[in-house]
Amino acid sequence: MRVTAKAHTNIALIKYWGKRNEKLILPTNSSLSLTLDGFYTVTTTEFRDDLSKDVFILNGKEVEGEAYERVSSYLDLIRSYSKTERYAHIDSTNEVPTAAGFASSASGFAALAASATKALGLQLDDKELSILTRQGSGSACRSIYGGFVEWQMGEKEDGSDSYGVPIASENYWDVRMAGVVLTAKTKKVSSRSGMKRTVDTSPYYSGWLASVPNDLENIKEAIREKDFEKLGSIAESNCLKMHATTLAANPPFTYWLDSTVRVMHAVQQLREEGIPAYFTIDAGPNVKVLYLPESEAKVAAALKSIPDVTDVILSKPGPGITYL
Ligand code: ADP
Ligand code: DP6
Ligand code: CO
Repeated sequence: MRVTAKAHTNIALIKYWGKRNEKLILPTNSSLSLTLDGFYTVTTTEFRDDLSKDVFILNGKEVEGEAYERVSSYLDLIRSYSKTERYAHIDSTNEVPTAAGFASSASGFAALAASATKALGLQLDDKELSILTRQGSGSACRSIYGGFVEWQMGEKEDGSDSYGVPIASENYWDVRMAGVVLTAKTKKVSSRSGMKRTVDTSPYYSGWLASVPNDLENIKEAIREKDFEKLGSIAESNCLKMHATTLAANPPFTYWLDSTVRVMHAVQQLREEGIPAYFTIDAGPNVKVLYLPESEAKVAAALKSIPDVTDVILSKPGPGITYL
């Protein structure tokens, strides 16, 4: 009853931003991501007779409060499928900054879902695992697979048609991503509450929704054609549209720091110098930069020279769930 699973984070190129059902985590739009080799979570879950509650250790420290409740209520869901009443000991390590906009909830819940279901002997195929993982954190349903992955929003009320679908494996196209670390501090507004506030109050939200289907079609075409400029420019503009919705929310907010904008300008400057590079930003201040292998040295040097950049982590496309 003890299983270790490894899941890689994924960064959305077409963002998931908004829920139509908060309990089942059903999105208002489909999204598309790249799974990354350089950022991941390893989680060991063990169901035990001697525990009177779940125990959640993250990066060597016992977790309490909101993050504990989120994990424990997610385990209740998994337990309901297996009819076990045993509590679990969860030991997880994030090789990614936690709650800083590097998608720790994606690798975290994918590793948890995979290790817990296997520890209970549940036989799930990838689609079933993606559906279950989605209910821990929406973005996590894409981390079941490597490479480019689409989360098809689905139409059904029970969520049975809302899951990740592999578009191209990690070996299909060597597109790289640099994680530009400005701060590893926990963000003030979680992804969950930020998207809710935006859906509920931002007058720009309808414009966002209307624009996603085209972006998604076009970026899938860019992947099919291996057209990097098309891929990058769609990803960059989709990210800017998502972040624009937060400025019009009530109360308004932004995930950006002044240094976030500095990195965005540096990426646009690289393009002016003829180096194809594009940025995307999730719910957090840190920036991810898309580039091709032949530009790696120049992109890395340019990013490292920006004031306030504390680290630049270079990553290739990464694999889906593995069991250790
Ligand atoms: P991020 O940008 O890192 O995904 P979110 O606000 O979406 O930020 O989610 C962060 C939350 O995800 C954490 O506060 C915690 O509740 C949960 N989380 C992060 N890592 C793990 C993990 N390894 N196992 C379980 N839950 C995790
Ligand atoms: C901006 O999956 O972290 O990173 O479903 O509430 O757990 P919950 O939110 P989460 O949201 C991710 C938002 C995003 C875009 C994306 O990853 O698609
Ligand atoms: Co998240």
